[in-house]
Amino acid sequence: MSDGLAGRRLLVSAGPTFEDIDPVRFLGNRSSGKMGFAIAAAAVERGADVCLIAGPVQLPTPAGAARIDVRSAAQMFEAVMAQVSSGQSRCAAYIGAAAVADFTPKAFAGSKLKKKPGQDSLTLELVKTRDILAEVAMHAQRPRLVVGFAAETDDVAAYARGKLVRKQLDLICANRVGVGATGFESDDNTLLVLGHEGYESMLGPASKIAVAGQLLDLITERLR
Ligand code: PMT
Repeated sequence: MSDGLAGRRLLVSAGPTFEDIDPVRFLGNRSSGKMGFAIAAAAVERGADVCLIAGPVQLPTPAGAARIDVRSAAQMFEAVMAQVSSGQSRCAAYIGAAAVADFTPKAFAGSKLKKKPGQDSLTLELVKTRDILAEVAMHAQRPRLVVGFAAETDDVAAYARGKLVRKQLDLICANRVGVGATGFESDDNTLLVLGHEGYESMLGPASKIAVAGQLLDLITERLR
């Protein structure tokens, strides 16, 4: 199974996005990038031509992967779409492991926001970001497989299945976040992979490196 990805273009997103409020503050999340980087590394090992779109993380680039660093959801959107629609051969798969902000500040304040005397609260107006995963799935040059992730604190399978259908994905990898050594930041993870017609597969608990390898086995099988 290991040579099934040889020469195929794989696009992987990883890490958080940071949404700037002013020159010193931003909205972010706890993604370390470990899950997405493990997938990119495992795909390179299997001979794939890997482009890794990384949010702001402190991880070394997996040897052999091309890396594009971005900061915000809007920048990640542009970088992913440029790869999907580039003149090269069509991407075999897009794997969206990044924790992309759903909302971003409506306006960026060019100078540091200052507390006013007597001010006890601050309201930030946020606007929705573009859904990268859903737009990749609807793209004219749609990768053959579009694989999403779902980070959930409860009703993991139900929410993930909703995203699978709503975003028109081929597979979704659901992980529980906010509890124990799994999901964000940890070295280990457990993924419930859901597909259409009731398809379900549990990967892990295991290291993110091992889980990434198992996920790529499923992806390779579907690309055959
Ligand atoms: O980075 P680690 O510390 O290793 O942690 C791994 C992880 C928990 C971040 C990872 O396993 C994971 O679950 N990634 C997805 C996190 C997430 O944003 O989930 P979501 O349920 O909010 O989003 C669903 C899917 O839509 C994701 O594939 C996301 O990339 C995508 N999305 C969301 C919003 C948006 N504007 N564009 C998107 O593409």
